[in-house]
Amino acid sequence: MTGAPIRFYGRRKGHALSAAQRRLVDELLPELAVADDGEIDLGALFPSAQTIWLEIGFGKGEHLAWQAARHPEIGFIGCEPYINGVAGLLAAIARNGLKNTRIFAEDARLLLPRLAPASISCVFLLHPDPWHKWRHAKRRFVSPENLDQLARIMTPGAELRISTDDATYCRWTLLQMLARKDFAWAAERADDWRHPPEDWLETRYAAKAQREGRSPVYLSFERVVL
Ligand SMILES: C[S@@+](CC[C@H](N)C(=O)[O-])C[C@H]1O[C@@H](n2cnc3c(N)ncnc32)[C@H](O)[C@@H]1O
Repeated sequence: MTGAPIRFYGRRKGHALSAAQRRLVDELLPELAVADDGEIDLGALFPSAQTIWLEIGFGKGEHLAWQAARHPEIGFIGCEPYINGVAGLLAAIARNGLKNTRIFAEDARLLLPRLAPASISCVFLLHPDPWHKWRHAKRRFVSPENLDQLARIMTPGAELRISTDDATYCRWTLLQMLARKDFAWAAERADDWRHPPEDWLETRYAAKAQREGRSPVYLSFERVVL
């Protein structure tokens, strides 16, 4: 890749992994990992998948594992640099015998440029780190550069689903998305963004927000081609 090196601002490690988690990371992750460089051959990664979905920052992976179990015909790529979260997804994959999930245990910005144009038909960005302070706004995942990449890799009509419990991030996202011509906000009425879509599994960040009195919003955008 050319350009300035990418710096990841989140944390990559939490508490020490248990022996079982270590085993999953050492033995199962190499089998499921997306390669670190080069163009990504989705046909080779998912020989029998009809279509490919992507989750960015899957946390502990509960939503991704749930979607993958519901849709065995879809190939899923999850990106997450936090190794404890990766271990959580690996455990769910092993527990549920999921065959349709691949993991990029790194910053999604290193993956997006390596995906072919119009190759992904749904992208989830659930409770992205809000980076509240204005001086940290450049760290927010929703940015013109990342949205350009998402627009490039998404198929016409693909969905970009973003949830957040942070009012600033919600405004920030809408400002950026509504300024673009390549995405259209799918909401028709307030209920569409106040209530989760039907195929929704509440993540631990969403549950924490609810407990603390913050209501998540659910923003769905369609990739439109003019
Ligand atoms: C607030 S947590 C939300 C986790 C999960 N989506 C949920 O709702 O429970 C944000 C996650 O995004 C991950 N993340 C942040 N920036 C990322 C990036 N550039 N690429 C991939 N993951 C990222 C973080 O490591 C963290 O696990």
